Amino acid sequence: MDRRTFVAGATAALAAAALPPPASAVVPKPYDWNATPPMDDRQAFIDWMVANRGEDPLYLGQRYDRFLQLIAHNDVWNDRNKRAYLMTPREDFVTKPNLSRAYEWHYLDIGYGVSITGPHTVMRMTNTIDPQKGERVLEVGTGSGYQSAVLANLTDQLHTIEIIKPLYERTGGVYADLIAQGYTEYQAIQRKNDDGYYGWEEFAPFDKIIVTCGIDHVPPPLLQQLKPGGVMVIPIGPPGAQHVLRIDKTQQADGRFTIARSDIYHGSIVNFVPFTKLVEGKIVGTHSN
Ligand SMILES: C[S@@+](CC[C@H](N)C(=O)[O-])C[C@H]1O[C@@H](n2cnc3c(N)ncnc32)[C@H](O)[C@@H]1O
Repeated sequence: MDRRTFVAGATAALAAAALPPPASAVVPKPYDWNATPPMDDRQAFIDWMVANRGEDPLYLGQRYDRFLQLIAHNDVWNDRNKRAYLMTPREDFVTKPNLSRAYEWHYLDIGYGVSITGPHTVMRMTNTIDPQKGERVLEVGTGSGYQSAVLANLTDQLHTIEIIKPLYERTGGVYADLIAQGYTEYQAIQRKNDDGYYGWEEFAPFDKIIVTCGIDHVPPPLLQQLKPGGVMVIPIGPPGAQHVLRIDKTQQADGRFTIARSDIYHGSIVNFVPFTKLVEGKIVGTHSN
């Protein structure tokens, strides 16, 4: 199966996830943490990516054009995060009807009433937590898998939770397909289908936590599972009108913890899907009060 034939809809997607992997990988060179595409020239970027990653020049050009916009809007600011954006094929994480819109500014529908976050928000949140290789990161809200795919270029210790079971399964199929084609960096992504409100105790504490659904408070279990010195980004506020907060947890000399909050959009409102709640295996309402 060509990796661009990822289709929307539960039935088709589940069927796609069940397909056998392609016979041979399309990524020509093994993943190398030190290999970085050229960043200051569109054609040089495309040529490098074709040679090293075997990707389609059409989407590479769109990715680069969005990259320039990300920089212009200060949504990505260091080279490691720029590289993570440039190395991630967003076109493989959108649904087929939205393929031509993969590199637009805004979020896009991915079915099940949820969305793939827009590239500007993904990158501002990612660069805010700025994961280092080896740092343990938790994402709440796997969704399409795009955010985790970006993070997989920053750390090899990545954990992500998705509450919607068929979406969790569909995204598993997308990753399996990409890994089979040579995107071996996605092998490090550990996933589970669960309610992320309670974090992932087994792998806690986390250096960084990124929450991609909106809630009116910081879930205490997530705060508890954040390491002292750790950073979380989380959309906080009423439905459809969140502020994306950076939470810094520090430990004082006397052992007490302090929490500092800052708005990564300096007051602008961002709209996220709700942080829903799992009760006896069913999604029932949200965790907001
Ligand atoms: C904006 S969407 C997806 C963003 C995703 N990071 C991406 O790149 O596509 C947020 C996701 O959070 C999920 N979600 C909502 N509440 C959740 C919860 N309690 N636990 C885990 N995931 C949750 C939704 O089902 C949805 O897939």
